Amino acid sequence: MMRYKYRLMVPGPTPTPPQVTAAGVLPVIDERIPPFAELFAEVGKNLRYVFQTGGDVLVLTSSTTGALESVFQNTCSPGDRVLVVNNGAFGERLVDLARAYRLDVVEQRQPWGTPVDNDAVGRTLAADPAIGAAVCVHCETSTGVLSDVRRFGEVTRNVLSIVDAASSLGADDVRTDEWGLDVVVTGGQKALMTPPGVALVAVGARAWRATETARNPRFYFDWGRAKTAVETAGATPWTPAISTIMQLGAALSLIRDEGLAEVFARHRRLTLATRAGLRALGLRLFAADEVAASAVTTAVMPTGVDARELVTDLRERDGVQLVPGSLDHAATLLRVGHCGYMDGNDVLIALAALERGLRRAGQKVPLAAAMAAAQEVLEGR
Ligand SMILES: Cc1ncc(COP(=O)(O)O)c(C=O)c1O
Repeated sequence: MMRYKYRLMVPGPTPTPPQVTAAGVLPVIDERIPPFAELFAEVGKNLRYVFQTGGDVLVLTSSTTGALESVFQNTCSPGDRVLVVNNGAFGERLVDLARAYRLDVVEQRQPWGTPVDNDAVGRTLAADPAIGAAVCVHCETSTGVLSDVRRFGEVTRNVLSIVDAASSLGADDVRTDEWGLDVVVTGGQKALMTPPGVALVAVGARAWRATETARNPRFYFDWGRAKTAVETAGATPWTPAISTIMQLGAALSLIRDEGLAEVFARHRRLTLATRAGLRALGLRLFAADEVAASAVTTAVMPTGVDARELVTDLRERDGVQLVPGSLDHAATLLRVGHCGYMDGNDVLIALAALERGLRRAGQKVPLAAAMAAAQEVLEGR
């Protein structure tokens, strides 16, 4: 049974603003008529704004994983050597995905909680000219660590650079063109405030060139077909998630109205407030201050508290949905998502619920301490 009011605070899916919800209940239109083409053109323009690119941003009907799969399909051939940074659950998934496509993966395995070691990436690439592409995760959603993908763009100058920005795009700065990133991938259901169903891929000039020689099979996710459909018909090659694209359009308009700089500043305030609050609860933060992402904050559970049980308790008792850690860290890490349609009051509610939940779990936590610490940040002190 769900509580009367459900408050979704995970790093995707995220709640949708009323304008986005409303866009989803409009009548479905045919994707082959001018009104859809107009909407799709507007979505494309606003996607170039949020990806900070003058290049193509393809809209795929899938989750982010599908879009990541499309990257290996469209830019690689079996046996191609690629460097994949694995510093968390999503880095690990990229390794698995690349191997599923029979790529020759050079895995840069790093401890959870560390950002991408760009110097090591640069050294590996310099030592092995056979590597044709390098892949990393910008915000490793399993740890809350944000990596320096500007530097990643620099050290990968001579190969195809691919960034999974699923939980960073729209929360932290991603300058696709300026930073020389060839492929950037995200999903609609996180900072872009859209229900699950669409994924976005920014494809730069070098990535398009790679598609010309890539021999991996592709059809549904064929980028060339997607680009041709946009250029010739203002549409997609196959039936897209029309309602979700209408919702994405509404969400992108909101982001444009707020302005990217303010969107990033708001997310940063939420991260800092959450971190101050969790610290006031006596919790250790998993990501260091210098690498803390703006979309999600990860805390280490005190001895004796299982994050999975705490998450269930908070949902059942307070209607607040947080998420435990991933894989081996499921019991020991707790993640608070604060990306997308979020403000300071959402953070305060999550912290208040946590105060109560931790007390129910037997922890000596003073009431309102986390709230006070977070309020100080939100007030700008
Ligand atoms: C960094 C990152 N990559 C990939 C994914 C996979 O996204 P999806 O579930 O939309 O396929 C996620 C989802 O949380 C993510 O955070």
